[in-house]
Amino acid sequence: MDQSERSYIPAAGQHWMLPLYDSFVWILGGNASRAKLVEQAATPPGARVLEIGCGTGSLVVVLKTRHRDAQVVGMDPDPKALSIARQKAERAGVKIELDQGFSDRLAYPDASFDRVFSSFMFHHLKAEERSATLGEIRRVLNKGGSFHLVDFVPARSGVARVIGHLFHAGHGVEDQLIPLMEKAGFVDSAEVDYGSTLFGSIAYFRARNP
Ligand SMILES: C[S@@+](CC[C@H](N)C(=O)[O-])C[C@H]1O[C@@H](n2cnc3c(N)ncnc32)[C@H](O)[C@@H]1O
Repeated sequence: MDQSERSYIPAAGQHWMLPLYDSFVWILGGNASRAKLVEQAATPPGARVLEIGCGTGSLVVVLKTRHRDAQVVGMDPDPKALSIARQKAERAGVKIELDQGFSDRLAYPDASFDRVFSSFMFHHLKAEERSATLGEIRRVLNKGGSFHLVDFVPARSGVARVIGHLFHAGHGVEDQLIPLMEKAGFVDSAEVDYGSTLFGSIAYFRARNP
């Protein structure tokens, strides 16, 4: 399929809502979740880092601001989101490579990154895209490199379960993520933390390329 005709779920669910996305995320506490994910990854000095589905660029800008010597790349299929990300990077005074593309066909060489991030992106993918994406992440990671993900998961308590069902029925990363990571050849795949936002329950995962 011609990738320029391929559809995807944009950041705020609908293309016309993109200008509101950053404000929504701020209200819902997403910035703290991204900062926690960056912390979790313990990015080493001089690392090459990729975020798949970087959207409006908030995580890549935080990453580059905290790790000035890292080479940071963000990719997303949405040209409008990438344009917001470019403006954000410029305002923050950081240099980030921002590429248009899909996570299940990454345009990067094998073993070219030390860390790969996915922030509230995985639930936008169909089942077959999830497996292919994990395979691509593993391909572009260096030996010993790691993948770090935060996303919505089914709620584990009463009220949160009802809210999660209303907003994310069938769209959370579900419980199959760790088996899928292992199937893609990752090791040490684990859920490392769990929390709640106004928008539902979230969990943090990591996996290592052996
Ligand atoms: C909810 S937004 C998250 C954006 C950003 N990571 C953040 O933390 O704000 C999900 C992003 O995934 C992107 N996306 C959807 N399908 C994708 C795909 N197949 N490959 C890569 N990115 C995709 C959307 O364009 C959107 O920008």
